[in-house]
Amino acid sequence: MVGFTTALMQIPIFSTVKIFVLIIFALVIFMSVFLLLNYRIEKFMYNEIKQLYEELEPEYRGELNEILITDNIDSLLDNVKELALRRSVELDSLKDQATFRREFLGNIAHELKTPLFTVQGYILTLLDGALKDSSVNKKYLERANKGVERLTYIINDLDLLTKLEKQDIKLEIEEFDILELIKSVFELLEMQASKSDIRLELDQLYNSSILVNADRERVQQVLTNLIMNSIKYGKKKGTTEISVQPIYENKIIVRVRDNGLGIGEEHLPRLFERFYRVDKSGNRRKGGTGLGLAIVKHIIEAHNEQIFIESKPAIGSEFSFTLDKAILVEAS
Ligand SMILES: Nc1ncnc2c1ncn2[C@@H]1O[C@H](COP(=O)(O)OP(=O)(O)O)[C@@H](O)[C@H]1O
Ligand SMILES: [Mg+2]
Repeated sequence: MVGFTTALMQIPIFSTVKIFVLIIFALVIFMSVFLLLNYRIEKFMYNEIKQLYEELEPEYRGELNEILITDNIDSLLDNVKELALRRSVELDSLKDQATFRREFLGNIAHELKTPLFTVQGYILTLLDGALKDSSVNKKYLERANKGVERLTYIINDLDLLTKLEKQDIKLEIEEFDILELIKSVFELLEMQASKSDIRLELDQLYNSSILVNADRERVQQVLTNLIMNSIKYGKKKGTTEISVQPIYENKIIVRVRDNGLGIGEEHLPRLFERFYRVDKSGNRRKGGTGLGLAIVKHIIEAHNEQIFIESKPAIGSEFSFTLDKAILVEAS
């Protein structure tokens, strides 16, 4: 450096070379200072971001933690951006869950209020003197009891649904004849069906049993809910027809078909949601909770099976689900 300055001193004061060398010298110094500052700022930012990053809970850092070992500010920034994106997705899903929970609670309150007010109304009327009026007291008590029955029905459905969602229910898989189960559900619902003049039948005469591996009680519930729906939303003098067919190598498909009201296409994607009903006021009059199909779907999914729906307004609906086939026994 000293040699360089001495050599520079010997050059005449305004010589072009001297000015040129000075400019180069200034440029070199400027570049070095610039690069040094740039490096220092990057380092400073890197340390600051890294510190912030390290203060995050490990669960929020996730896999990014391992990538962070890099000393490169670009990849660090990428990591932080990715983290921010993930957090915003997480936040959106939490907001959705909160809305869902609010709606769910609102729905429950709404569902319980109606029968509760009915019960309360009749009890208050009885207390106000109707109790002594023998022409109405029994009728009012019976109506109050109907309200209690409905409350119990809603609470049982909710209880079952919650258990299914928490996967608290262990399936008890056993081998049984699905045709026999269908026939026994037909018998149980015969009274209700005949009130609407609806026939419950199998699509053909099956002359052999069809054995499946599933939780008998739960499948009974699925069939009951689907057949009950076909009665509730069926047309007078209509028919509910069930068929059982083999599909794939080891599965069967059970189809529950009715020729009732049918369901508009726009409702199909949401039909299995809790409390979803096509015609809100009409369906409540029919005693529905809107929980039946949500329960059906959970039970089928707990079996790792699938449920399908096809429906056309004014033509009818077909709900079908698959089950694991056991050995097929031919009738002798
Ligand atoms: N077989 C069917 N035909 C026409 N509509 C149906 C049928 N099954 C279900 N639905 C419609 O789907 C809605 C949800 O059914 P579900 O969950 O069983 O509730 P609900 O307690 O009202 O019966 C019903 O309210 C009804 O509008
Ligand atoms: Mg139902």
